[in-house]
Amino acid sequence: MEQQTSLPGGGAIYRRLLGFVFPYWKMFLVSILAMMVLGTTEAAFAAVMKVITGAGFVDKDPESIRWIPLMIIGVFLVKMVSGFLSTYGMSWIARQVIKTLRHLMFNQLLRLPSSYFESTSSGLILAKLLYDVEQVAAASSQVITILIRDTLSIIALLAWMIYISSGLTLVFLITAPVLAILVVFISKRFRMLAKRIQGSMGDISHVSEEAIEGQRVIKIFGGQDYEARQFEKVNEYNRQQNMKVIATTAFSTPFIQLLVAAAFALIVYMATLPGMRQIIGVDTFVSFLTAMILLMQPTKRLTTINALLQQGIAAAQSVFDFLDQPQELHHGGKKIERARGKVSFKNVTFGYSGANGHVLNGINLDIQPGESVAFVGKSGAGKTTLVSLLPRFYELTGGKILLDDEDVRDVNLNSLRDQIALVSQQVTLFNDTIAHNIAYGALDTATEDDVRRAAQTAHAMEFIDNLPDGLNTRVGENGVLLSGGQRQRLAIARAILKNAPILILDEATSALDSESERYIQEALDELMKNRTTLVIAHRLSTIERVDKIVVLEQGRIVEQGKHQELLDKGGVYAGLHKIQFQEK
Ligand SMILES: Nc1ncnc2c1ncn2[C@@H]1O[C@H](COP(=O)(O)OP(=O)(O)OP(=O)(O)O)[C@@H](O)[C@H]1O
Ligand SMILES: [Mg+2]
Repeated sequence: MEQQTSLPGGGAIYRRLLGFVFPYWKMFLVSILAMMVLGTTEAAFAAVMKVITGAGFVDKDPESIRWIPLMIIGVFLVKMVSGFLSTYGMSWIARQVIKTLRHLMFNQLLRLPSSYFESTSSGLILAKLLYDVEQVAAASSQVITILIRDTLSIIALLAWMIYISSGLTLVFLITAPVLAILVVFISKRFRMLAKRIQGSMGDISHVSEEAIEGQRVIKIFGGQDYEARQFEKVNEYNRQQNMKVIATTAFSTPFIQLLVAAAFALIVYMATLPGMRQIIGVDTFVSFLTAMILLMQPTKRLTTINALLQQGIAAAQSVFDFLDQPQELHHGGKKIERARGKVSFKNVTFGYSGANGHVLNGINLDIQPGESVAFVGKSGAGKTTLVSLLPRFYELTGGKILLDDEDVRDVNLNSLRDQIALVSQQVTLFNDTIAHNIAYGALDTATEDDVRRAAQTAHAMEFIDNLPDGLNTRVGENGVLLSGGQRQRLAIARAILKNAPILILDEATSALDSESERYIQEALDELMKNRTTLVIAHRLSTIERVDKIVVLEQGRIVEQGKHQELLDKGGVYAGLHKIQFQEK
């Protein structure tokens, strides 16, 4: 995914970034003006030095001497005000841009297709959101500051130097081409390193995240050493790359200072030649030297601009790359109020991108409104995949799926998903209260009574009432404070509350004991009455009463019919049933 960008590409990225600054152009203007003022104060100080030496020590002119302290204070007052305005203004804009970028990235995060999350580690996404965004803003605001303030300082100082002695300035300027070559040479290296560092930040957060989430597995399977080695690897790589940046900067800065010092030495030598002493006055010489010393800092900073620029561009590239990822396809925009619940699979074929081969093959299935259909089959047969195509978590490879005779691709995505309540195989809970988890997505409209009723139907109230804060108890990250069965009941309550015309239950009661399962089964039977239901179950006893049982094998429908019909037929289903029956 990483693409090598040449410098013009960097320019385009920078222009795009400037687009984010545009809304704050007033503040931008203020800080730019402040920077310009700040830039010229250096030259002003060199000029004051000339007055101090000239009037104060050479001519001893009492009239001028009185003004000198005021001039010094004046220059530094201007420096203070413009310094504050430029720093504050630029940082203000940078924080606004960071906020805007994060906002956009988070919205993008909510709209990316499932496949993106399967192909990108969450650590990498987090690193983009946390680290890269900061880099973009920090680097670009510093670049702008240096570019404007320091360039102006240099120009103003050089102008002053030329004004007081063009000859000496000429000598000084012979170092310029060497400087330019050096800067160009270093720039490429910086961008490469910045990119590597960003990638390695992604690795660090990726490995840490796995260690956090997998802590129990790590402990019981003795994975500490392995994880520690993994982390050491990425940690060391990150250090190495950072050191390379530091080494490059550390070398280039004093090297530039050496260049300036050489010019400096040359000038001191020339100015002190017998013939020159008459031409150049002491005040001019002192002022010139002051200007040269003052030139050091901005020149030094100007040479780091490339490191920053490359860092900013590499980070912006990573951020924009994320923002440019295609979102879930919306295709049509047809809105459905409330679907009747007729679902048809027409010759549906599907394969996960990346994995070769089809997971589903030629699926044809008609489900009437209000009908309940159960999917059974071995693990990996494609049951979960089949039902996740209806809410369009993935795009079909071939065929189509109709909802109320409407191709789901022509239906507005949000409106389509509004029609579906889902209890998935892996329960997801948010680190929030039980009430908020049940009413998730309906927080604005659901009353506490609604939540309570849903919880009651899902037989969750019995354990909720025993919790310290009842419905307002927090469940911890992904519900770690609850048992598997409790979490499942909350997921069922959530689906009940949504009251959608289509219900998908993927192993919704698998974590429950037989007694609870029977209770909930009754509640679910009630719930299934007036809506289309797609149930996946391994425990066949839970699906005996559904309208139709569909048997999947390696992505194909091999049998379908009612429980008794399939038993009589003595095929795959009868076989599965027999095995489970014997187990009991
Ligand atoms: N996100 C994914 N990316 C690539 N392949 C996947 C993905 N999810 C599932 N598969 C593959 O698709 C096939 C069907 O998986 P699916 O989850 O639909 O099976 P299932 O019938 O629900 O199984 P189980 O009963 O174990 O839940 C499996 O071979 C699996 O390896
Ligand atoms: Mg499954």
